[in-house]
Amino acid sequence: MKKILVTGGAGFIGSHVVRLLVNKYPEYHVFNLDKLTYAGNLENLKDIEKKSNYSFVLGDIVDGDFIHELFQTHQFEGVIHLAAESHVDRSITNPMEFIMTNIVGTVNLLNAAKNIWKENYDGKRFYHVSTDEVYGSLGDTGYFYEDTAYDPHSPYSASKASSDHLVRAYHDTFGLPIIISNCSNNYGPNQFPEKLIPLFINNIRHNKPLPVYGEGLNVRDWLYVVDHAVAIDEIYHKGKIGETFNIGGHNEWKNIDLIKVLIKVVDEHLGREAGSSESLITYVTDRAGHDLRYAIDSTKLQEELGWTPSLQFEEGIQKTVAWYLENQQWLDNVTSGNYQKYYSEMYDKR
Ligand code: NAD
Ligand code: TYD
Repeated sequence: MKKILVTGGAGFIGSHVVRLLVNKYPEYHVFNLDKLTYAGNLENLKDIEKKSNYSFVLGDIVDGDFIHELFQTHQFEGVIHLAAESHVDRSITNPMEFIMTNIVGTVNLLNAAKNIWKENYDGKRFYHVSTDEVYGSLGDTGYFYEDTAYDPHSPYSASKASSDHLVRAYHDTFGLPIIISNCSNNYGPNQFPEKLIPLFINNIRHNKPLPVYGEGLNVRDWLYVVDHAVAIDEIYHKGKIGETFNIGGHNEWKNIDLIKVLIKVVDEHLGREAGSSESLITYVTDRAGHDLRYAIDSTKLQEELGWTPSLQFEEGIQKTVAWYLENQQWLDNVTSGNYQKYYSEMYDKR
């Protein structure tokens, strides 16, 4: 059986990647390594946790000795690295966690892969999952391409840019068989409700204010999370070593326009008059260093690997709203911190 290590598999995107791999490849054994920070939640994987080709490993990628031992024990053939601190606002209040996990943690994984694979890289693959935010901010026109110069502005995007550079450096210096993708904003089930879409769905439901940063004029390119997971599967298996792929939805929305659509859809689901929750919109101080616009050109991925997003935004947002409203218990657990308490009690007892 091929052993594949997925890091950050209890998080939002990672859980969709783990599910896809475990279900699609019974010949793989998928190891999900996760520290279970506030953003990691094993409830996300309840449906596959008992499958014989899946194992969960509790651990921190910042612990280099632990990572080395894990690689030595399991001799992974491939790594799909998603573990990260991922929220821009948190990176502004606490940059150091981002430096440790996103940069030091990534280098620990690179070192372990390099040392355990001992430069016999046949059939091996180190796939680093990154973000379009490394490219900085666009004006009203233009797109990010794979060769767009890096220009990160937040501690989050700067830490991801550093990790991308280090992954490429391990390829160029040591020949490590790496591959990188940079994806636009994801939305869908299981996203921690600090990010725009799940936060606003939850607040609308509870009639709480919807904090719109600045004038709500920033633009993001939104992709349904399962489409990202499918792209990761394609790139991991078919992408050329050493290459970068941009992944995007060709689905740009000004924040305030997206928020109004979201309000309408949530209102309809809740049986309220469509749009009535617009009264909850509250303009607040803008995020420091707030990037104006992100937009990805994913032509390379489409032409080389035939990937395109499967869901139209209208359908994706309906599915997403329905999921959060049907899974209020999930939202309540993660917002109350109950599940974290439960896990720390469970693991402390071991
Ligand atoms: P997330 O915050 O939902 O999940 C991150 C996961 O990593 C959590 O399960 C957490 O417990 C785990 N983790 C954090 N620190 C760890 C550590 N030190 N050791 C082990 N595990 C640790 O993030 P996400 O939104 O699923 O993003 C996953 C990856 O995709 C990240 O690398 C992110 O930069 C990238 N990305 C995200 C988006 C997006 O829109 N969310 C877009 C493009 C790229
Ligand atoms: P977010 O989901 O944090 O993703 P990112 O910052 O990585 O793009 O935010 C998406 C956009 O929504 C971004 O322009 C910031 C804005 N935003 C708000 O206006 N209010 C909020 O409460 C949040 C969380 C985000």
